[in-house]
Amino acid sequence: MWRATILTIFPDMFPGPLGLSLAGKALKAGTWSLEPVDIRDFGIGAHRTVDDTPAGGGPGMVIKADVLAQAIDARAADPRPRLLMSPRGVPLTQHRVAGLAKGDGVVIVCGRFEGVDERLIAARGLEEVSIGDYVLSGGEIAALAVLDACVRLLPGVMGAETSGTEESFADGLLEYPQYTRPQVFEGRPIPDVLVSGDHAKVARWRREEAERLTRERRPDLWAAFGAKTPSPKKNHPKR
Ligand code: ADE
Repeated sequence: MWRATILTIFPDMFPGPLGLSLAGKALKAGTWSLEPVDIRDFGIGAHRTVDDTPAGGGPGMVIKADVLAQAIDARAADPRPRLLMSPRGVPLTQHRVAGLAKGDGVVIVCGRFEGVDERLIAARGLEEVSIGDYVLSGGEIAALAVLDACVRLLPGVMGAETSGTEESFADGLLEYPQYTRPQVFEGRPIPDVLVSGDHAKVARWRREEAERLTRERRPDLWAAFGAKTPSPKKNHPKR
């Protein structure tokens, strides 16, 4: 079973939306397990304090190294990667998600306040991970995103229809546009090629659309794609 342990001061945020839909079904089926751990249970004193003011001054509070160390060390030693959700982390990729999904699970520390004492990050080997260049009020929603991305890849969770999608993203291109009935919606028809029955033409159209969208929306992905793909793929289809 793929095991997720989440260290947070808001354990009630879990499983949250992951209790519904396919992830929820898989959770009930025992495909994965979820253990939210309340960091406050390891807090100090009558107020169960988990944070303190930043050394050197400045706004906000910092999660204490000693408290978080106790919360982490209370689990039996295990080989799962330990992530710390943080806007200054390494950006999460589908490649990293696939790696996590293949393993035994994850331990995720959800940051809050101004951050976590740097010495704890080093001492417990936390891997700082970001889900994008914007700032959330804490790591919990980011952790839910990581779990959702991993759980959908676990064997049996989504069925065969996703494998194509995965390969396509692994290709380094964005997904091509999709359509379904009605044939005409508010005057907009489904592109002729998709109802032509010519599978080779459909495949070519989808590929060109995927390349166009990637070029227009994600120049960063497009540059990386060009760098690893032999030259014939680089020509820009006319529109
Ligand atoms: N915590 C706050 N913002 C975050 C982000 N963008 N990614 C991961 N964790 C975060």
